[in-house]
Amino acid sequence: MEKTWWKEAVVYQIYPRSFKDSNGDGIGDLKGILSKLDYIKKLGVDVIWLSPVYASPNDDNGYDISDYYSIMEEFGTMAEMEELIRRAHEIGLKIVMDLVVNHTSDEHQWFKESSSNENSDKRDYYIWKEAVDGREPTNWESIFKGSAWEWNEATGDYYLHLFSKKQPDLNWENPELRQDIYRMMRWWLNKGIDGFRMDVINMISKDNAYPDGPCPEGQRYGDGSAFFMNGPKIHEYLQEMNREVLSKYDIMTVGETPGVTPEDAVLYTGGKRHELNMVFQFEHMGLGDGPDGKWNNGPWELKELKRILAKWQTGLHHDGWNSLYWDNHDQPRAVSRFGHDGKYRKESAKMLAACLHMMQGTPYIYQGEELGMTNVAFDALDQYKDIETLNAYRDLVEGKGWTHEKMMSAIHARGRDNARTPIQWDDSPNAGFTNGTPWIEVNPNYQEINVKQALEDKNSVFYAYQKLIQLRKQHDIIVYGDFQLVAEDDEQVFAYKRCLGDETLLAICHFSDEQSEFVFPGELEGRKGELLFSNYESALCDGSAAVLRPFECLVYLYRS
Ligand code: NOJ
Repeated sequence: MEKTWWKEAVVYQIYPRSFKDSNGDGIGDLKGILSKLDYIKKLGVDVIWLSPVYASPNDDNGYDISDYYSIMEEFGTMAEMEELIRRAHEIGLKIVMDLVVNHTSDEHQWFKESSSNENSDKRDYYIWKEAVDGREPTNWESIFKGSAWEWNEATGDYYLHLFSKKQPDLNWENPELRQDIYRMMRWWLNKGIDGFRMDVINMISKDNAYPDGPCPEGQRYGDGSAFFMNGPKIHEYLQEMNREVLSKYDIMTVGETPGVTPEDAVLYTGGKRHELNMVFQFEHMGLGDGPDGKWNNGPWELKELKRILAKWQTGLHHDGWNSLYWDNHDQPRAVSRFGHDGKYRKESAKMLAACLHMMQGTPYIYQGEELGMTNVAFDALDQYKDIETLNAYRDLVEGKGWTHEKMMSAIHARGRDNARTPIQWDDSPNAGFTNGTPWIEVNPNYQEINVKQALEDKNSVFYAYQKLIQLRKQHDIIVYGDFQLVAEDDEQVFAYKRCLGDETLLAICHFSDEQSEFVFPGELEGRKGELLFSNYESALCDGSAAVLRPFECLVYLYRS
């Protein structure tokens, strides 16, 4: 397998709005990030992925860009962005920026021209369709609810918006649009950034026939995803982008690709494909989803989680590359969802960390994950700020008759604002995030869970992450070894082996708040392995069978 720096790297994701405020306006900013670079460095990561910092009216917190060439005013200035790149590089951190090019803001100059003047040379930068039988061109539902089409009075037709109506989709069929995007990418790369995380990049090619999607009885909108995810020209576009831009720089690229299978992912990331380095898949994030997607929040089973992650591990072992994540700005906190955010918060946060970091792929840590930050449960709907959550409330409570209580409990479990409460720096008011009023309230548990406390406690979740990152740097087997699920029918334990040359690594991750027994795989039974990582102070295990304590995790390395 070819060795590359981005296979060996660990990435830390910053959601700037919630990271650190330097000027008291309640919104995180670039100077705030600059002031905390040493903290990120201490964790041991190699790369920072910055969620969008471009100019934006913030309908979707920066994922609606009005100018790719300037910085959002609340976040600071271009000079500060340049300083951030420079200072990060000085201390050995790379910077990957978010690239949001499936759509822009409706306040982008291109859209202003496109939507107001049918003769504009920007007219064809977006997707315009006539009404069909007096209604929307297709029955597609927007990912943020309602129709994916919005009527535009000035031109007498509809534009497509897979997300909010303030996020019109760009028309990638237009070669001039594509060249404008590539120019902008080169402009940023020439400033010295080290790569891109590409927002919903597998949605940029649409099926030109624009067919209706399947629509359940009695529902107004259908599911058009088959006609815009992994669309007919997606690989052509990415190969062109690679030829024109990516291949000219030593950078890292990761595509956000909902709905991909491992077979699709090989096409996006395979060594000879010349597209992307890796993609984010969503199968494990969809556990417990129902007809209303994540809002149904049904139960999930460990066996299913294991099956999914093992399939991705083996599916991309020989060609392609995995990205590994539990948390990001769109997901609830993993310790609340897959671990235990009460009594066993620390143990389960460390276990989840090890379970992920010992797999093959590039691990991503989302801000606050290294502290074991938890979900929040605000009482009132108006404490929530996320457009997805607020639109879903309207759709399900006002439209489909869900009770307020049922919806609030779904929001508590799966809403995106769980990940967006401010980073808890210390136990002072507003968790040391701001001197003003935070744009979203801090999680009330900041007095127990915060950076200051974590740095003072040698057994903190922070130091467990630091240790796991160090292990990855010390042992090639963690990066390059192959993967084999162990005890696949075990309903409490997620165990797997990694093998490289004459070494074997065994990770045993216990997903239960009770005790469970684990028997070592036959070939390792009784052998003396080196204990690389554990999340209890003393590991009680003789190498052949173990009684695992709640959320216990053990990682052994065997050399023959
Ligand atoms: C995926 C991003 O991660 C999410 O935050 C955003 O709302 C959508 N794409 C639309 O850009």
